[in-house]
Amino acid sequence: MRVFDDPRAFQAACLNARRTGDLGFVPTMGFLHQGHESLLRLAAGHASSALSIFVNPTQFGPNEDLARYPRDLPGDLAKAERCGIDLVLAPKEAEALYPSDFQTYVELGPLAATLEGALRPGHFRGMATVVLKLLALAQPTHAYFGRKDFQQLAIVRRMARDFDLPVEIVGAPIVREPDGLALSSRNVYLSPDERARALCLWRGQQAALAAVRTGERRAKALELAARVEVEKGADRIDYVAVRDAESLQEIETATPRQAVILFAAFVGKTRLIDNGLLE
Ligand code: PAF
Repeated sequence: MRVFDDPRAFQAACLNARRTGDLGFVPTMGFLHQGHESLLRLAAGHASSALSIFVNPTQFGPNEDLARYPRDLPGDLAKAERCGIDLVLAPKEAEALYPSDFQTYVELGPLAATLEGALRPGHFRGMATVVLKLLALAQPTHAYFGRKDFQQLAIVRRMARDFDLPVEIVGAPIVREPDGLALSSRNVYLSPDERARALCLWRGQQAALAAVRTGERRAKALELAARVEVEKGADRIDYVAVRDAESLQEIETATPRQAVILFAAFVGKTRLIDNGLLE
């Protein structure tokens, strides 16, 4: 495994690797957990594989956790190696990707205006910009993203389509703890009490699914069934929303497999997100 600080050297190595076949790529912000590792193993199934580890400042708002975002480069590299990754981009400084004269950002449409986009202004603009840069550097045939960031995946897919990017965007299933909590780098912030309460998102999802199974299709009723559970554990709820799984727009009736329920809530100071298709 080769590790690069310099994006240009990483790009040259990726281009060279592409000569011998497909390249699977996983962009991350590091502090890798088993969810990331499932993506790394998928990427490692290609002739060559690459990973980026970069805590992207442009996708954090002024009051968000950029400064305290968890980092563990040696641990991440050990995991990447174990998963069979060939090439890693891990710039030490943000300037490596954002030089002082950087000025070009991706402008997004309605998909990014709702849910996370409405609550975290600029988040998706920063995310899409860095993903576009990373895809331009790695030039992969396949890029892997977790479905836990459901809206992020939808936006990246849309960007790849709208910009004719020659890459297949692959969404991978959410990896959960045995009790249902979705794996997230931010779970490390949770105290034991908060960890127990964080299960409310999973319970909310189960409540909505149970209602679907009894024949309930009204989006508002499903949201209410889920919200009752989330309220039991969360300190603040940003949203519990049943949406069209493709456009992420509001719907009145949840058609199974075409509707998704999405959650964002604070447990203590930690903001958690989760989602599940209503099927
Ligand atoms: O999902 C993430 O970790 C980040 O949003 C990503 C895609 C690596 C862009 O910084």
